[in-house]
Amino acid sequence: MSGSYSRIVGTGAYLPAKILTNKDLERMVDTSDEWIYARTGIRQRHIAADEEQTSDLALAASRTALATAGIDAADLDLVVVATTTPDMVFPSTACILQAKLGARNCPAFDMQAVCSGFVYGLATADQFIRSGQYRNALVVGAEIYSRILDWNDRATCVLFGDGAGAVVLQRSNKPGIISSHLHADGAHVDMLSVPGTVSGGKVSGRPFVQMDGQSVFKFAVKVLDEVAKEALTANHIEKSEIDWLIPHQANIRIIQATARKLGISMEKVVATVDRHANTSAASIPLALDEAVRDGRIRAGQHVLLEGVGGGFTWGAVLVRW
Ligand code: UT7
Repeated sequence: MSGSYSRIVGTGAYLPAKILTNKDLERMVDTSDEWIYARTGIRQRHIAADEEQTSDLALAASRTALATAGIDAADLDLVVVATTTPDMVFPSTACILQAKLGARNCPAFDMQAVCSGFVYGLATADQFIRSGQYRNALVVGAEIYSRILDWNDRATCVLFGDGAGAVVLQRSNKPGIISSHLHADGAHVDMLSVPGTVSGGKVSGRPFVQMDGQSVFKFAVKVLDEVAKEALTANHIEKSEIDWLIPHQANIRIIQATARKLGISMEKVVATVDRHANTSAASIPLALDEAVRDGRIRAGQHVLLEGVGGGFTWGAVLVRW
């Protein structure tokens, strides 16, 4: 085994072509561009075409990540797809993606941790690489939330969008991923959930996102602050040494409140929520890909990724780029 760390060696992103603006939503529910932008920072979201599945979004993002990494799908040892909106009950979206990519025979599984799914997936793939078991892993966050939204409920339908982001993780002699910190507390199911299930040949329960927005907001800021500090303390790193904070992109006010609590300037925060709304497990890799491609993230910098979502789940991954 050469090297006992993993590094992100390629990133990719995909957003469906159709854009739904706040103005479009004004014609669908009793809302306004002013309200949505002021409360959330969102201007628009992308919506998957009827014929697109989550695995298709994942495929587009993955192909770019593989091309950037300079490896073939056949070289992958592991495929992890973080999603809450799988193509079907089973097989996993990861297995469907693996076949579409032509990455036959490597293990593939879905990671269900809602908006923390990408951080959970990255942490898991990192462990497989660190242990020496695998060399190349593909970690994807891909979602079609537009299919689990009640488009008559203005309290939720304005907040979410569709998209996918992917990274290729590769074994390396130096970090790479410095540490990961994962948490869950299943006592808060009622705060954020899609309470429907498939049973007896039909959907039972309400298969749409429901949440207590204000409670989610407070909980998110609290744990994003805590887990970021946990990552810094564990590595004896000062907040001034964080070059880029990439939090889950749910609401710009959650992002601003978290940065304020941490004492990190918004100039060091990557925010893309204005253009794609909350894409759940896809939001962190979408923001990461943008900041890598536009040259903000450079070699040697510290990047802190952190997510929070239904479950509740939350976690952080500290990376040296
Ligand atoms: O990945 C995690 C997923 N969830 C989240 O990120 C959600 C976290 N929570 C939030 O982002 C915020 O709580 C919201 C954006 C959902 C709401 O913002 P808020 O500042 O907490 O507003 P609020 O819930 O206090 O609602 C204020 C008012 C209410 O009217 P009344 O009762 O004051 O008359 C709502 O009925 O805004 C009303 N409202 C809307 N008005 C126009 C709720 N949704 C809308 C809407 N357009 N889309």
